[in-house]
Amino acid sequence: MLPGRGDPLGVVLNGAIAIQDGKVVRVGKRAELAGFKAAEVVPLGGAWVTPGLVDCHTHLVFGGNRADEYAMRRAGASYEEIARAGGGIASTVARTRAASATELLDSARARLRALIAGGVTTVEIKSGYGLDTASEIRLLNVARSLGKSEPVRVVPTLLALHALPPEYRDRRDEYVAMVADEMIPAVANAKLAASVDAFCEGIAFFPHEIERVFDSAENHGLRVRLHAEQLSNRGGAKLAARYNALSADHLEHLDEDGAAAMAEAGTVAVLLPGAFYALQEKRRPPVRMLRDHGVPIAIATDCNPGTSPLLSPTMAMNMACTLFGLTPEEALMGMTVNAARALGLEGEVGSIAPGRAADLCVWNIESPAELGYWIGLPGPERRIFGGKDA
Ligand code: NIG
Ligand code: FE
Repeated sequence: MLPGRGDPLGVVLNGAIAIQDGKVVRVGKRAELAGFKAAEVVPLGGAWVTPGLVDCHTHLVFGGNRADEYAMRRAGASYEEIARAGGGIASTVARTRAASATELLDSARARLRALIAGGVTTVEIKSGYGLDTASEIRLLNVARSLGKSEPVRVVPTLLALHALPPEYRDRRDEYVAMVADEMIPAVANAKLAASVDAFCEGIAFFPHEIERVFDSAENHGLRVRLHAEQLSNRGGAKLAARYNALSADHLEHLDEDGAAAMAEAGTVAVLLPGAFYALQEKRRPPVRMLRDHGVPIAIATDCNPGTSPLLSPTMAMNMACTLFGLTPEEALMGMTVNAARALGLEGEVGSIAPGRAADLCVWNIESPAELGYWIGLPGPERRIFGGKDA
């Protein structure tokens, strides 16, 4: 049974999928594919098949972890207080810069394998814990090598405006200029990232700084995406839409103007319930407003050491349903077709249709609603990557 066309999920009962050279070539009722000459027929025993899951927002590559800050937060400190006191992203930057390439690769691989076991076949990986050109390139190279060694498509993103690195304290403008004039050209020339991301927030960067960097990204042929309206409303969603951003992410504080601008630009709303949960936020992203404006909604783990140490894609789907009020169908579309769109890959992954990669999950469930229902569902029974069991 195959989600993929027609009604929200496009469920095909008693379906079959024809695969050739790693791609889907035909999908339909088993009877419709009866005449199809297959070299091999693999019966799935009536199981549910979904597109391989797409985790479109992660920060998988970093040194150390922040369990100590988690403990501080449990004792009453807030994420913003810890960040302003030099902890937060800055502490992971220090651990990441100090880590060897092998340490970075090994720890990220372990996290990636957890996502893969959960059903992920495409994963976006942001840099953002290096914050100088050489260190950011190192992280993007780690992401790239993970995509070569593991059965998963890796989509690397340059997250240059994540936090102000300590060596640029009181020299914000110089850091922003360095990112725009040196880091982005270097990353674009080496083709190490598909898009450029930034963190628009009082504890991070302001809209005029982000504009400078997005202008450079545009000039170098890179798409943009933005961490926007997570802890406060800074007009990030509107800014992202003005640059035709692939996505605006978090969005707890999104307002009506922002939602309308995103709809107009086709910018996907990426909701990150793991960060909402771990920070014990109270304000939920305005899901109804997004629906009313027709903004496509994606879900991601946001796996990162600070705000979302989440290693399970189906847990993200469950949280999106329970905490944000998405329907299980919306959550599934949020981790497949809409997540692919947030990566600009809707023609390649995230749905089961001719021409798409044959990336599939075979689940031991009775209905697709179970993917949102279970808390801590183990991964799929079978995971097919590029037409092969993996
Ligand atoms: O997506 N918001 C900024 N980036 C991450 C947090 C990163 C960190 O705290 O290390 C996020 O939530
Ligand atoms: Fe993030």
